[in-house]
Amino acid sequence: MKATAQAPSNIAFIKYWGRKDNELRLPANHSLSVNLEGLSTVTTVEFSGDLAEDGVEINSQVATGKQQSRVVKLIDRVRQMAGVQTKAKVTSYNTFPKGAGLASSASGFAALALASTAALELDLSEKELSQLARLGSGSACRSIPDGFVEWQTAETHEDSFAHSLHPANHWKIVDVIALVDQTEKTISSSEGHEAALKSPFYQTRIQHYLPNQYTRIKDALANRDFTTFGLAMEEEAINFHAIIMTSDPSILYWNAATMTVLHAVRQLRTQGLEAYFTIDAGPNVHIFVEEHNVEALVATLGQIPGIQEILVAPPAQGARLITEQAA
Ligand code: PMV
Repeated sequence: MKATAQAPSNIAFIKYWGRKDNELRLPANHSLSVNLEGLSTVTTVEFSGDLAEDGVEINSQVATGKQQSRVVKLIDRVRQMAGVQTKAKVTSYNTFPKGAGLASSASGFAALALASTAALELDLSEKELSQLARLGSGSACRSIPDGFVEWQTAETHEDSFAHSLHPANHWKIVDVIALVDQTEKTISSSEGHEAALKSPFYQTRIQHYLPNQYTRIKDALANRDFTTFGLAMEEEAINFHAIIMTSDPSILYWNAATMTVLHAVRQLRTQGLEAYFTIDAGPNVHIFVEEHNVEALVATLGQIPGIQEILVAPPAQGARLITEQAA
């Protein structure tokens, strides 16, 4: 009654921001993402009749409060599916550099969904695993399928899941992540999803901006058209942060170094190095380049004050079971 799973983090080109249903985590818009190699969570779940209560350990620390209850809530659902009441021990660690300031909820809940269902021999389909991971953290549903992934909005739990558009080896583009702040963010994404609905520009994003932008990026991914992809992804990031800044309450995720990196990326383009940025709900900058430009980009970023660390993440496959155990 024990299994271990590894799942990647993902970065969205069209972000999920704002929900139709908070409890079921049904997104207000479709999103597109890629899984990131080297940034993953490894989780072991063991159900045992010897346990008096559930235990959760993340990165060698006992989880408490909200962090613990979110994990137990998903395990409760899995127990319900399997018709058992056995308690579980969950042990999990991230392969991200320590304190990278990158969201681990996507990789974390994807790994938890796979490991816990496998431990109880539930043998779910990819679609069912994606639905389940979504209940833990919306973006986690996109860390189940391989490579480049799409998650469409829907009205019900059964209809809201992600699927792969292209495998990881479809396109050799690379996410070079400039870490400018490695602390955990103070405003949770749940608060952000709520606050976004009150931005005066939110409905414009959902109804008028995203439909075209979505098709533009999806087509550029299919055609491996880097320029169209990059420009559209960068525009979306600005649009997304405009919503964040004008939401109620207003949220400012960027710091001074974030802005410095954004200018540097645009400057690089004028010098012939084709690089484009996107930014998640945080200050760190994800810069996409084609594989042959990774080295030049990393060398340039190394000169910019305020960048604490640089990570290089090619596209990755989705969640999978592994034999190694999360110690
Ligand atoms: O999965 P959540 O509820 O933590 O939402 C995070 C959503 C973003 O990372 C901000 C965007 C996205 O689509 O990944």
